[in-house]
Amino acid sequence: MSSDHSTYQPSTGFGRWMDQRLPIVRLSHDSFVSYPVPRNLNYAYTFGAILMVMLVLQILTGVVLAMHYAASTGLAFNSVEKIMRDVNSGWLLRYLHANGASFFFVAVYVHIGRGLYYGSYKAPREILWILGVIIFLLMMATAFMGYVLPWGQMSFWGATVITGFFTAFPGIGEPIQQLLLGGFAVDNPTLNRFFSLHYLLPFMIAGVVVLHVWALHVTGQTNPTGVEVKQKTDTLPFTPYASVKDALGIALFMLVFAYFVFFMPNFLGHADNYIPANPLKTPSHIVPEWYFLPFYAMLRAITFNIGPIDSKLGGVLVMFGSIIVLFFLPWLDTSKVRSAVYRPWYKLFFWLFVINAIFLGWLGAKPAEGTYTTMAQIGTLYYFAFFLIIMPLLGLFETPKRLPNSITEAVLRKDGGNTGNTPASAAATPDTRG
Ligand code: HEM
Repeated sequence: MSSDHSTYQPSTGFGRWMDQRLPIVRLSHDSFVSYPVPRNLNYAYTFGAILMVMLVLQILTGVVLAMHYAASTGLAFNSVEKIMRDVNSGWLLRYLHANGASFFFVAVYVHIGRGLYYGSYKAPREILWILGVIIFLLMMATAFMGYVLPWGQMSFWGATVITGFFTAFPGIGEPIQQLLLGGFAVDNPTLNRFFSLHYLLPFMIAGVVVLHVWALHVTGQTNPTGVEVKQKTDTLPFTPYASVKDALGIALFMLVFAYFVFFMPNFLGHADNYIPANPLKTPSHIVPEWYFLPFYAMLRAITFNIGPIDSKLGGVLVMFGSIIVLFFLPWLDTSKVRSAVYRPWYKLFFWLFVINAIFLGWLGAKPAEGTYTTMAQIGTLYYFAFFLIIMPLLGLFETPKRLPNSITEAVLRKDGGNTGNTPASAAATPDTRG
């Protein structure tokens, strides 16, 4: 993290002594106090901070839950019930953790959506974006393994279905599946390794988040105009301007989260997971958690063979491909203009993409038959066409709107050129605005 904006001055003798040996306070100050951020960031930019809070919450609640949880097929279900009934505040810990996973995904989908809308993935932020996609993959693996731990019917059958995907790969598939399961079916060894990995992965996520924020601080944030910072008046210090905004974003998000935790804690779960796992009884519908549903719909949309690739392998490739394609976004988008604000056609296709993703999520919860399958096939087609056809071509043919010369110009233009002060001094000395 660059320290050219460093305004940190240790005020005590110990502070100066420490600063010459391990300047950790300077690093924090330069990263979260004096760090310059674009002055026009909106609330969509608070989701990174919201995600950090959610990650910490998941780790804290998870570590305490693990103190009471028993990772054994004979004990797991009852140990969770014991947490709910006998452990002090155990019900709260569990509901925070279970709903926390859902809200983590709500936040990450908004965060990714913001990135797509404002072109955050474009140069020079490719690595920042790729690290994000890696975090997303780790989050999916963590959530999947966490859902198996309560050892209910959906845990067991979800794990059976998902690990079964790997058998679609000829030759290597079955050995991979057996490695994951620790045997030939979902059983005690599976539960043990899933618990171990479910504990490990959040710390790996935390590690990648450090790299993510490091990369962010090298390139700096984008902003709704997509125009890079050019002059000092384009930015404000992170504290208090962005930190207060982040705090409000976090508080509002937490209010909605708390509503779910306290008033509808099982709304986002599945009732069948309150039935102990039974390998001899398959539930009538095996559905994953809501945040996996769009990907599940795409998996099941492939009902036909594609040349030598049979439908099962085709579905698995499409499902994995739907995430892998995100890695290539920085190079698939050919537009010279970053933000959708100035790209009328991209904006339209983006919102269609969002509607399509929600539509796929709805289809993922429906039985894979008849018109549902046809609709899922159309939705899958649009999902891939958006990235592989629309993005590359639109950049070549779309006529963007005129870009502002700078962030400052865009801000002042929106305010009618009147911020209450003379524009130049208002921009240069923001903290005098009262
Ligand atoms: C645990 C999960 C994550 C955490 C804690 C996190 C954290 C952050 C933070 C603090 C920021 C700066 C504030 C903001 O712009 O919101 C940020 C920016 C960013 N994140 Fe994440 N992130 C996470 C996941 C992701 C994922 C999954 C992606 C993409 C697939 C992603 C892509 C980006 C990009 C491209 C930016 C730069 C945005 C810009 O300046 O336009 N992040 N992230």
